[in-house]
Amino acid sequence: MDVVILKDDAEVAAEAATIIRQLLRQKPDAVLGLASGNTPLATYRRLIQDCKQGLISFRDVTTFNLDEYIGLSAEDPQSYRHFMQRELFHHIDIDPGSTFLPECGVGEDPLAIGPAYEALIRSRGGIDLQILGIGQNGHIGFNEPASSLRSRTRVKTLTRDTVEANRKYFDDPLKQPRTAITMGIGSIMEARQVLLLATGASKAEAVRQAIEGPVAAMCPASMLQMHETVTVLLDREAASRLELHDYFEWVAEQKRLLLDSRADA
Ligand code: PGA
Repeated sequence: MDVVILKDDAEVAAEAATIIRQLLRQKPDAVLGLASGNTPLATYRRLIQDCKQGLISFRDVTTFNLDEYIGLSAEDPQSYRHFMQRELFHHIDIDPGSTFLPECGVGEDPLAIGPAYEALIRSRGGIDLQILGIGQNGHIGFNEPASSLRSRTRVKTLTRDTVEANRKYFDDPLKQPRTAITMGIGSIMEARQVLLLATGASKAEAVRQAIEGPVAAMCPASMLQMHETVTVLLDREAASRLELHDYFEWVAEQKRLLLDSRADA
């Protein structure tokens, strides 16, 4: 794991946007795995800026989001489809027909959505880079603790804690869904590159478990220890409980020195 400790949310977003820009330069028709939630918002704002300034284009990009609630229509402001349109898709030059979420329309069988979503991802060549946030309980996507570490895209029931954490987004608690369709941990592990973002003290314990704890279903993000190409971007608060904190900073310094010496050569 490449663990990078940055000052704050703005630095995390700048670094994440740089990594995405580099990918799109190498592969303009990349397939991006996207996340909703508060954490990636600053990154999306940077990407919007970059796109408006002509530094990147999403014209040939395809996106697959991690998850979507069951029971909310695309027009519902609390749906992740609506969130993505509002926070990213409407402001960049992406083809709306190339943006996908595991949505379950009225009359559709929720159990059929997962396998169809995975087939669609495969048909587009798989995910090049998956952006992830992390829940306070260590979840990635809506893979709650005790999810199978090899799980596939499927229906999941949210924990009471997750429902509570997201309550602030719902005016009417009775309309807040308790179930969602989420990419599985096994599905996420197939992305060629993973970018995990975490900011704020409330994530510090989950980050510690994910990076330094055992690989365990009780912390779904810990499975990323088994992935070959993961970059974890943390602000100081999210990194504050890491035992290897100083080591990660030392590694970053050594990398900088190495890059500088190559630039000088
Ligand atoms: P957040 O959610 O980015 O809103 O903190 C992350 C998550 O629960 O996966």
